[in-house]
Amino acid sequence: MHIGTKVVVGKGLPADDRTRALVPPIYLAAVYTFETAQDGADLFLGKKEGYVYTRLQNPTLKFLEEKIAFLEGGEAAATFGSGMAAISTTILALCNSGDNIIVSEPIYGGTFALLGNLLPRWGIEVRWAKAKDFPNDIKNKNLIDEHTKLFLTETPANPTIDIVDLEATAKFAHEHGIPVAVDTTFATFYVQRPIELGVDIVIYSATKYIGGHSDAVGGMVVSSKKLMEQIKDKTCVDLGGIMAPQTAYLFLRGIQTLVVRMDRQQENALEVARYLETKNEVSVVYYPWLESHPQYELAKKQMKGGSGMLAFILKDGKEAGKRFLDALNLCQVAVSLGAVNTLIEHPASMTHSTYSEEDLAKAGIDSGLIRMSIGIENIDDIFADLENGFKAI
Ligand SMILES: Cc1ncc(COP(=O)(O)O)c(C=O)c1O
Repeated sequence: MHIGTKVVVGKGLPADDRTRALVPPIYLAAVYTFETAQDGADLFLGKKEGYVYTRLQNPTLKFLEEKIAFLEGGEAAATFGSGMAAISTTILALCNSGDNIIVSEPIYGGTFALLGNLLPRWGIEVRWAKAKDFPNDIKNKNLIDEHTKLFLTETPANPTIDIVDLEATAKFAHEHGIPVAVDTTFATFYVQRPIELGVDIVIYSATKYIGGHSDAVGGMVVSSKKLMEQIKDKTCVDLGGIMAPQTAYLFLRGIQTLVVRMDRQQENALEVARYLETKNEVSVVYYPWLESHPQYELAKKQMKGGSGMLAFILKDGKEAGKRFLDALNLCQVAVSLGAVNTLIEHPASMTHSTYSEEDLAKAGIDSGLIRMSIGIENIDDIFADLENGFKAI
């Protein structure tokens, strides 16, 4: 089956064996009863399969976990209350106090805050290497030691659209026995295939392309069964950051249209990127499938499309950017991404306001950078709205 079919039917239909329901039901039950006391004890010991309590497992969450593991090509998956819960749980599952992790920069502002504010309090050190020069920058800076427990990457990177070479990173990390995690929120299993490139852990903010409609917050992780035991059974269950079954249902529904949505979003995004390049007011456009992207060759090799995310810089800087954003009507000034609506934002004052000015400069995030998440609207209407922005500056 092609991926466009797999998203619709999963491993096969009907979705629910018991009732032959076409779509998976939402199991709201927090609690499941035991037939006998011994039955309960066996379930807790893992001698028997079944349900106990939704924080441990829930049938609707399991539907989603099985589906995303299948689509991603991984052995096992876990669902979380948000993308941040997925990221923090993964790190805490693999690191102890005294360990360090190597992270690609730039990275999403929320992740940056977790890494900078909380991890040091828990004794976990963060070492930075350039996303666009991963893994060479790790070698050059000699960052690995015996306490390095994880490489955490994000590609395309939020918000600069830098690309991490996943295959080279996985190869290098494995030579040192270190697992690699990638936040693939901007690309999804449709646009890039991290596990096939050797990556060990795939992380999502499902809030974005998986849901696709800006109406659900969640996170997911896909990995081997062995790593998942550590991430889910030994960490997520105790930290408690699980997804609600109602939310899992929205993601199961969202996944079914992901391929059609992303086809349109990528098509629109490439057109918008090309259009922005023709504008005198724009100094630079970052889009992975634009020939001018510094990592175009790698992006073409690693990604099956450019995704719907792009960024650009206006020649006249921040103030011009404000006028541009305020003049838009169709494109909504908002954070988040991956939705059917086109969203536009200013990372330095919004999604990446957790970075100081120095941090922004070090991570290569221009203070005037504007980030766009292109939706599925008719392209002519998007162009007409962007023209409003250009007139205003
Ligand atoms: C790349 C990336 N990873 C993780 C997150 C965090 O996800 P959530 O908001 O679902 O916690 C975001 C949010 O914008 C993101 O852009």
